[in-house]
Amino acid sequence: RAKKAPGLDAEPLAIERVAVIGGGVMGRGIAGLFAQRGMVVVIRDLQQEIVDQALAQIRAGFERQAAKRHQTAEAVAEKMARLWGTTLAEDLTGSDLVIEAVVEKIPVKQKVLAELEPLLSEKALFVTNTSALSVSELQKSAQRPANIGGLHFFNPAEKMPLVEVIRGADTSEQTLATLFAAALNLGKTPIVVADRPGFLVNRLLMAFLNEACLIVESGVDWLSLDVRATSFGLPMGPFRLLDEVGLDIAADVGATLSGAFAYVEKSSLLERAAGHRHLGRKAGRGFYRYQNDHEIGRN
Ligand code: NAI
Repeated sequence: RAKKAPGLDAEPLAIERVAVIGGGVMGRGIAGLFAQRGMVVVIRDLQQEIVDQALAQIRAGFERQAAKRHQTAEAVAEKMARLWGTTLAEDLTGSDLVIEAVVEKIPVKQKVLAELEPLLSEKALFVTNTSALSVSELQKSAQRPANIGGLHFFNPAEKMPLVEVIRGADTSEQTLATLFAAALNLGKTPIVVADRPGFLVNRLLMAFLNEACLIVESGVDWLSLDVRATSFGLPMGPFRLLDEVGLDIAADVGATLSGAFAYVEKSSLLERAAGHRHLGRKAGRGFYRYQNDHEIGRN
């Protein structure tokens, strides 16, 4: 039985079949989490190659975890048996919960919603893992806006405890209660947040990252700033964090937030960096360089 959310009276719906759209940085982490907790999970991306990479990376994560916990190969096989991938929208029919983790652009997310909603049941929920975009805006083009909300995981999804549950203008209490319960069932710490640009965490975080970029544009070396930030007590410096997030995603989030809150000064460094192929860890190169997923120096 699903756990109930404090302050949300509606009975959560049962979630057994989950579809994750987008097999990138976040889609992989989210799909692995749900499969780990016993749900049947399908990942959909546009190319089979990305789907295969996503499944291979999730498997490698399960294998590392099994080795640490002295589990057998069967433990990995059991989780992987619940997880599969596809490029076809029709394969998502029958999902109880669809989580989209495609690029941070509202027209792309609207397109995904328009394609999938007719394939889903009346009860199925569609949620976005958006970092900063408006859930209410997405609801405007929906057939069943009450079934739409935000479930914002942080990177890496398998490790970070917080999940923002976003209440759009038309999100029903039952949808919110279900999302809250689903996050609790994953062992996460959910908080319900209002549908404002960047919600809670990214509104704070992007102001910090923008300021770091401005400092570098004023002539300070980014690497020394990154090193100083860790000695100041942060788990990682702003530029290492940008590499983890992905420079394209960070630039899109920055554009949403600077548009909404009119920063005193907006750095153009991220937009320029996002125009290159070196988009961070996922591309093997960003501010740092990576080989076999290990950092090997500055770019
Ligand atoms: P990513 O660039 O790593 O992956 C996006 C994936 O979506 C790609 O594999 C792409 O092929 C796929 N895709 C694009 N259009 C598609 C479509 N129509 N159907 C199926 N797949 C499609 O991006 P990432 O970092 O995973 O971000 C995804 C979402 O999660 C964004 O909205 C982002 O803001 C959000 N997010 C990102 C975080 C991060 O640290 N990177 C943290 C929390 C949320």
